[in-house]
Amino acid sequence: MRISVFGMGYVGCVSAACFADMHHNVIGVDVNLQKLDLIKKGQSPIIEPGLDELLAKVIKSGQLTISDSAEYAIKNSDVSMVCVGTPSLPNGSLDTHFLLRVMEQIGATLRVIDHYHVVTIRSTLLPGVAKELIVPILEQTSGKVAGEEFGVCVNPEFLRESSAIDDFRNPPFTLIGQFDQRSGDQLAKAYDLIDRPIYRTEPDAASMVKYASNAYHALKVAFANEIGAISNKLNIDSQRVMEVFCEDRSLNISKAYLRPGFAFGGSCLPKDVRALNYAAKHRDIQTPLLNSIIPSNEDHIQRAINTVLMRGKRHVVMLGLSFKPGTDDLRESPLVRIAETLIGKGYKLKIYDEEVILSNLFGKNKEYIERSLPHISELLTSDYEGALKDAETIIIGKKLKNMDEICGMFEEEQFVLDLEYMADWAPAESTKIV
Ligand SMILES: NC(=O)c1ccc[n+]([C@@H]2O[C@H](COP(=O)([O-])OP(=O)(O)OC[C@H]3O[C@@H](n4cnc5c(N)ncnc54)[C@H](O)[C@@H]3O)[C@@H](O)[C@H]2O)c1
Repeated sequence: MRISVFGMGYVGCVSAACFADMHHNVIGVDVNLQKLDLIKKGQSPIIEPGLDELLAKVIKSGQLTISDSAEYAIKNSDVSMVCVGTPSLPNGSLDTHFLLRVMEQIGATLRVIDHYHVVTIRSTLLPGVAKELIVPILEQTSGKVAGEEFGVCVNPEFLRESSAIDDFRNPPFTLIGQFDQRSGDQLAKAYDLIDRPIYRTEPDAASMVKYASNAYHALKVAFANEIGAISNKLNIDSQRVMEVFCEDRSLNISKAYLRPGFAFGGSCLPKDVRALNYAAKHRDIQTPLLNSIIPSNEDHIQRAINTVLMRGKRHVVMLGLSFKPGTDDLRESPLVRIAETLIGKGYKLKIYDEEVILSNLFGKNKEYIERSLPHISELLTSDYEGALKDAETIIIGKKLKNMDEICGMFEEEQFVLDLEYMADWAPAESTKIV
């Protein structure tokens, strides 16, 4: 393929060299002439293991050429990969001015070319930027229509400095956020020689995956360091703790708990997080990350409550009460919290949960529910059909055995709050947590 790479920095240099090494014809573009002079001589402008050798090879073979002209690059390529910087502004917001400047230059040349070209953004950009800023600039400057006369994709880069070449050749996956099928198809050809899965999403989802990944990496570092700090203070070998922790591949290092849904609850997570925070505080160790877990969960519960309150539809049926499917444990169930709040505000509530049978509850579980919802026996019903008929609002709180049958009974005008993202159909009024 004919590929142009805009911005020969850490990402652009590695991408240009690796694409050229995969026998694509690559043109590297930058506004910094010093960088271009170095690359022309086959020297890397950045420190990156293996990059000097790779650049020397692809410059010598002619697979990579260099230019300071956006016009020349666009005229002679089918895909452009934009890798300019998107740094932070002092207030933390994203500085898009490099990105927008390049788009003006690219758009001006799109106006005069006859071939189909896909503009690909590899720079990290927030959801919304591609759709709201980049596409309009490209359309204005080119006088053409995106998705018809040229293509646009968001294609985040996941390489890490210091292992960038290896990361480029062995990425976890290639992620193509495509505005339309043809754009995505053309871009996918550039990755033909990389034997990794290609995931295609809409552009904003691709941007979000990149931010979710970096936020998660940062979160992992902070988490390990807070657990390490508490362990050290307690004279426990923190390295050993996290080594063993990481050996659990079913719950700890896994997909478990990483699906957006409703808040956590139950008899273990809330109390154990509280106890760990207390132990840290008691020893004067600051653990802002661990301290933020319970407030974050509380905010999530409140979001659900607010979503119901905002509608003002006061006849509510809640499907599910225990803290997760397969148990009748009600202790610290976030669904009990929703029920408490709605009743406190005078809402008419009916609850259906096939796993919660009052006469079978014992001990702490029974005490908890009688304290939290004193009139629980009047709220629980086994007649879900009757309850649903009168409902204005339905809250799906957990997966029930006869979920499909129940979802089939919802009426168009009923407001359904699907806390666990379970209903695969959507009545007009249904919503996730907003
Ligand atoms: N550095 C990383 O490890 C890494 C990893 C993944 C993603 N990213 C993202 O990739 C993007 C680029 O990061 P980087 O570290 O390579 O940036 P960088 O600052 O090293 O390089 C950006 C390059 O763009 C050039 N440039 C600016 N305006 C230009 C224009 N109009 N035309 C052509 N070139 C122009 C600059 O001269 C510079 O050489 C950022 O959005 C970053 O968040 C970076």
